[in-house]
Amino acid sequence: MTCETYESEADLAAALGRRVVGLIQRHPTIVLALPTGRTPIALYSELARLTRLEHVDWSGVRTFNLDEFVGLGGGDAGSYRRFMQTRLFDHVNLRAGHIGFLDGRAPDLEQECTRYARAIADAGGIDVMILGIGANGHVGFNEPADALLARTHKATLDLPTRASNALWFDGEIARVPREALTMGMATILQSHAIVLMGTGESKAEAVNAVLTGGITTRVPASFLTLHPQVTMMFDEPLADAMATLR
Ligand code: GLP
Repeated sequence: MTCETYESEADLAAALGRRVVGLIQRHPTIVLALPTGRTPIALYSELARLTRLEHVDWSGVRTFNLDEFVGLGGGDAGSYRRFMQTRLFDHVNLRAGHIGFLDGRAPDLEQECTRYARAIADAGGIDVMILGIGANGHVGFNEPADALLARTHKATLDLPTRASNALWFDGEIARVPREALTMGMATILQSHAIVLMGTGESKAEAVNAVLTGGITTRVPASFLTLHPQVTMMFDEPLADAMATLR
């Protein structure tokens, strides 16, 4: 595992944006898994900027997003699909058929999870999985629990997770769905390479637990330490806050 620290969130986004663009240029049919949340916002604007500037061709790229709220679809405000549309998809020439997304409004959610797993397998698996981390150590919507699920599944969201997602619902926790569909831990760990972005002091305890606390289902991101090719990218506020915990 490699850990890198950048002076600011913007520097981290610039470095990762450059790396992703380089990957797309070298491997035009790369399969990327993408996160939502506050953390990747700077990355997506950087990718949009570099794409505009350098005419990056995304026409062969495939993407799969990690998760989506149950009950929400692409047209719904607050949906992760909508977030991705405005932050990234509107700014690059990804083909519509190359955008993989869980449909939170699918009539049969179990079937939807199976469809998604199959779509990822049909694409040849995920080459690079980009992740954020929840303040409680979750990845995707794999919340701390006695047991974690391996495959794509419906998850019940913890209250702190709903609170941190209230941002996408005008700050109203009550409007944040109680359930979501998410890739499971095996899907995440089967990616060829994983990049975890961590920014801000609010993630210090979770990241510290990942790096020093051993592997536990109580910190789902700790399972990433089992993977042979993980890069963790932090900003200084997070690194400084972690130093005070040791
Ligand atoms: C959300 C998402 C995760 C994300 C995490 C951190 O609930 N499901 O995929 O990585 O929580 O979010 P943020 O970047 O806003 O801190």
